[in-house]
Amino acid sequence: MPLNIVVGITGGIAAYKAVGVVRALVLEGHDVHVVATDAALRFVGRPTLEAISRNPVHTELYEGVAQVRHVAIGQAADLIVVAPATANTLAKLAAGLADDLLGNTILASTAPLVLAPAMHTEMWQNPATRANVDTLRSRGVHFVGPASGQLTGSDTGPGRMAEPDDIVRAALSVVRRDLAGRRILVTAGGTREPLDPVRFIGNRSSGRQGVALALAAAARGAEVTLLAANLEIEPPHGVRVLHVSTTLELRDAAREAAPHADVVIMAAAVADYRPASIAHGKIKKETQGDELELRLLRNPDILSELSHDRPDGQLVIGFAAETEQDEQALLELGRAKIARKGSDYLVVNRVGWSEGFGTQRNAVTVLDQAGSIVMEASGTKSSVADRILDLLS
Ligand code: C5P
Repeated sequence: MPLNIVVGITGGIAAYKAVGVVRALVLEGHDVHVVATDAALRFVGRPTLEAISRNPVHTELYEGVAQVRHVAIGQAADLIVVAPATANTLAKLAAGLADDLLGNTILASTAPLVLAPAMHTEMWQNPATRANVDTLRSRGVHFVGPASGQLTGSDTGPGRMAEPDDIVRAALSVVRRDLAGRRILVTAGGTREPLDPVRFIGNRSSGRQGVALALAAAARGAEVTLLAANLEIEPPHGVRVLHVSTTLELRDAAREAAPHADVVIMAAAVADYRPASIAHGKIKKETQGDELELRLLRNPDILSELSHDRPDGQLVIGFAAETEQDEQALLELGRAKIARKGSDYLVVNRVGWSEGFGTQRNAVTVLDQAGSIVMEASGTKSSVADRILDLLS
């Protein structure tokens, strides 16, 4: 379906590469409207942009006032892509400024916003820019790049605008509605097993990968329920969130929700054991002495239960976080695990002191029931989430 796409171009050298973004979107059949800042037109000419976009280029806030153009362009957009987005643009967007047509267009729009930053490394790494990026991300703005590489001068480093094809792919994936109508249950985080009113046995799972899956599935049109076990980050907007803490609570919530789901994704790190008894008061060293023995009971395996009791047609995806360093041995563990648990896919990832849990990035291998590798992905947890969801569409 052709989309109405606004391409915002701001004043950086990389503006010449924005022509490639406009061209690729037009060739894919979309209706592209360029909104350029005055600074952008110092780097790339209006006739070029008009010829390539096949539409007039808009720059002026006080043009087309009768058609209320400063809001009309944004209201009509299905998607807004800003490439390049300079450090100044990021600051203006984070502050919600509307001192030019692009600022007005973005503020007046509810369409997904994708930014492709381009600037010198020092500017990208400056705490002011970092804070602006964090603010924009927390509002659901999508970023593609910057890449690391040769910059305008002789310097190299992060700050180079992502390649036009990557920008186009990332931007179109944001408005993909290929999971519309699918009901997806995601578990995220790590369960905690209390020892007494103030202590627990837990794990370092932050819930980032599960939250990224929930967010990406919702963005692609799915109706998402997230069972959130002790998340280190805010649960996303636009999904139904149920908070749980222990494995038994997660199991109850999962068993209740799973029959209504088309897809179950068990991304949570679930404790295999729980204390046999929970002390009513704080366990005291004064009464325990130098040694304290804990007796633990095996927890039920929720993934196995859900896989075996699933309704017809439901797809179940499990995760396997392993510390095994050898690649082949890691996959063998994964193969044995999927055979044991009975899920359709198993997402295998390595975890350790500094890998997997709590980090922003992930690297996964997905196995099917037969133990064959169906997909490998690495990158940010949201890009890995999108690749995993591609298995559903
Ligand atoms: O056996 P292991 O803990 O490595 O299995 C990981 C997968 O099984 C994850 O998908 C996790 O959510 C799930 N799991 C579970 N119940 C348990 C332990 C793990 O559902 N008690």
